[in-house]
Amino acid sequence: MEKAAHQPRTVWYDETGTLDTQSTLRKIMEITRCLRELKSLDAILDKILLEARRLVRADAGSFFLVEGDTLVFSNVHNDSLFSEKDVARNVYRNAKIPINEHSLAGYAALRNSPVIVDDAYCLEADQALQFDRSFDQRAGYRTRAVASFPIVSSRGRVLAVLQIINPMAVTGQPTVFDERAVASLALLSDQAAAAVEIGAVTEDYILRMASLAQLRDPNETGSHVKRVGAYAAEIYHVLAMPLGLSDHERKRRKSMMRVAAMLHDVGKVAISDTILKKPGCLTKDEFEIMKTHTVLGARLFHNPTSEVDAWTREVVLHHHQRYDGQGYPGCSSDLEAGGSLARAPLTGENIPLPARITAVADVYDALLSHRIYKPPIEESSVVEMLREQRGRHFDPGVLDAFFSIHDIILTIRQRYPDEN
Ligand SMILES: [Fe+2]
Ligand SMILES: [Fe+2]
Repeated sequence: MEKAAHQPRTVWYDETGTLDTQSTLRKIMEITRCLRELKSLDAILDKILLEARRLVRADAGSFFLVEGDTLVFSNVHNDSLFSEKDVARNVYRNAKIPINEHSLAGYAALRNSPVIVDDAYCLEADQALQFDRSFDQRAGYRTRAVASFPIVSSRGRVLAVLQIINPMAVTGQPTVFDERAVASLALLSDQAAAAVEIGAVTEDYILRMASLAQLRDPNETGSHVKRVGAYAAEIYHVLAMPLGLSDHERKRRKSMMRVAAMLHDVGKVAISDTILKKPGCLTKDEFEIMKTHTVLGARLFHNPTSEVDAWTREVVLHHHQRYDGQGYPGCSSDLEAGGSLARAPLTGENIPLPARITAVADVYDALLSHRIYKPPIEESSVVEMLREQRGRHFDPGVLDAFFSIHDIILTIRQRYPDEN
């Protein structure tokens, strides 16, 4: 085999090149439009990865996000190895690689340029660019053709790297990325960059909003917020499976679930330090004030045309409602008035589903974490406590969904560890 065939090819999208058919261009425009409907960065990356693979019939692919001088492994698809549940777990795998010329994705990020290889195993030993076979060896997989594309912001900064692996011919046989496939993927990467940029900025703003609450309440850390958002999104994903939604619609709703759950306690910004940071039990009057964080927070999300606002308002308002009606309410009518919270709490399925999901996610994470009023509790004991509250504090269906993905929940916990 000729050495030149295995040198990495640096390619670029050129309007005079062998660009796509009308239908591929239309498809890429349609994908770009769909991306605008997704609210969380994770959902945007997942959609781009899925559609990029479809464009070239690729068996696998990954997304890496740029964080400083490293690439953080963000999403992975592999039709040969993973079921949908495995994909979810891998989304939360915590792995990093340096941005340098020793890996395909690192090279693409470093040089801000696509890199295409026909066979990753045939990179020459004396080349700087190498392929790490350890994942293949562990998983029993054979990576062949790899195409890595930088996702570049409007200001020319590399935000992420899209890596597509093992394209298939129509016959189902492994093939290489031909010029047409490369041009299609380059165009999609270029068109999708705006959605990735918006998704990253949105995520940043959500975390800043959540960290406003953290300034007042040391329990509401960035890691807690990310974990609760991720748990809730995955629980919603399970519960939405039987609804007969399209894949796109389920993921769109899942992305709103994540955003809404991340903001569950944003109303604590309005509660005084003497209450939030009190080490002991609250007095009755203090607890009445504490309860108002639901109503005060929900008032921030009042745009009637925004679906994300509607989901977030429901979560913020109702996340302390218990399934048996013993929780404390946030009443919609209190959003306009002074907020007496004097009405009876909702019960059972009258509590909006996003709030029932967030209740499980938030309590689970709070019990496992250190709090000003308690030490962390062992996972096995927390699981037992959740089970005891089945049909009391928690919706049995939501709890079943939670336990059905307990392995993913544990992976999420490792992905977003507490700082310090
Ligand atoms: Fe709360
Ligand atoms: Fe919380």
